[in-house]
Amino acid sequence: MSEVMLDLRHEPRERAYGILHAHIIQVLAGIDDDITAMSTIAALVHHAFGHLWTGFYRVVSPTLLRVGPYQGTLGCLEIAFGRGVCGTAAAEQRVVVVPDVARFPGHIACDDRARSEIVVPVFDRGGNLIAVFDVDSARTATFDAKDGEGLQRILRWFAGEGRTEPGG
Ligand code: SME
Repeated sequence: MSEVMLDLRHEPRERAYGILHAHIIQVLAGIDDDITAMSTIAALVHHAFGHLWTGFYRVVSPTLLRVGPYQGTLGCLEIAFGRGVCGTAAAEQRVVVVPDVARFPGHIACDDRARSEIVVPVFDRGGNLIAVFDVDSARTATFDAKDGEGLQRILRWFAGEGRTEPGG
């Protein structure tokens, strides 16, 4: 399967997200399973950019996130809404970009090497928050609004965008 693990580290960021989005839609064709999609998206985004930690925290109650499919070292298992970067993104239902985690009050350090982070909310077809997608980098200032837009586009798969039904 190595031929389908794209390495986009040397592409301009917007082009990289375009290629990655098209690839993810293609790989997930005919799949109607959120956990399969979360696993696949975590693996492809992680390896495309060489991130430190890439994965999902799922909404399991109105105020609690629990770790879902991810790539990287051991992630914190549960995060309350409003706690850390993930809990802030979940509570406020918005993209949170943190250029320097040392300057984000309440940042939760699952891996001491993390220096910057982006968290993107994930919505289903009904517009309900079902998860947040968290990406950590070992370098400061890795992420900006372009990453937010690129990741939001990929994550709209969970809202049905680009999704093809089984056998469809
Ligand atoms: N840094 C996150 C916690 C999750 S781990 O980085 C995988 C936060 O502050 O919410």
